Amino acid sequence: MKKVIMVAAGAILMTALSCQKEQTQVTENTATEIPAEKKQGIPDEEILKNYATEAQQLLGSQLKQKIAEGGPENALEFCNINAIPLTESISKKYKVTIKRVSDQYRNPDNAANPSELAVITTYKAMLAAGKMPEGLLKDGYYYSPIVTNAMCLQCHGTPGKELAEKTHLKIKSLYPQDKATGYGVDELRGIFSIAVNP
Ligand code: HEC
Repeated sequence: MKKVIMVAAGAILMTALSCQKEQTQVTENTATEIPAEKKQGIPDEEILKNYATEAQQLLGSQLKQKIAEGGPENALEFCNINAIPLTESISKKYKVTIKRVSDQYRNPDNAANPSELAVITTYKAMLAAGKMPEGLLKDGYYYSPIVTNAMCLQCHGTPGKELAEKTHLKIKSLYPQDKATGYGVDELRGIFSIAVNP
C-alpha cells in the first residue's frame, strides 16, 4: 500500500516537473522542426506522422500554458479563437491540409466526413479491444488518432464531475450545439486528417 502511494506521488511530481519544463519551453516556441521536403509530391508516412505530432504539440503546449495562466475557462476562449488557425499554421508550413475532426464535435467546423467517420469507428474498435490505434494512410489521406488524457477532461469530461459547472456554462455559450463532453481517459476524442495531395 505504502509503495503504491509512493509510486503515485512520484508520478504526480514527475508530471508537475514535466509541465513546468514544457511551460518554460513554450515561450521559446518548442514545436519540433521537421524537414518540409516531400518525396515526389507525396510525403512518406513518417513525415505525415510528424506533421500530426507537431500540430498536436503546438495545440497541447499552448493549451497547457493558457490553463496554467487562468484555468480552463480562460483557456476556452483561446481554443475558440486559435485552435483552427494554429492547425492551419502547420498546414501552411508544410503545404498540406490538416484538419482536426471528431464524430462528437464541439465546433461544427470540425465535424468528421464519412471517410473520417469510418476511420474513427476503426480506431474506437481498436481502443475497445485494448489496442492503441496508429497512423493510417488511406486513399490519399493520412489519419492519426487523438486520444484523451486526464487534462482533456477539464473541458471534455462529465459536467459536474471533471468538467466544472462554470466551465461548462462557458462552453455552452460559445458552442450551443456542443457534443464533446462525457469523455473518460484513453478514449478517442477525434483524429487528425491530412490530405496528402492538397
Ligand atoms: C480549456 C478547455 C479544453 C481542454 C482542456 C481541451 N479542449 Fe479540446 N476543445 C476545446 C474547445 C473550445 C474546442 C473547440 C475548438 C474550435 O472551436 O475549433 C476543442 C476541440 C477539440 C477537438 C476538435 C473537434 C471538436 O470537438 O471540435 C479535439 C479533437 C479536441 N478538442 C481534443 C482535445 C484533447 C485530446 C484534449 C486533451 C489533450 C483537449 N481537447 C483538451 C477545449 C478544450
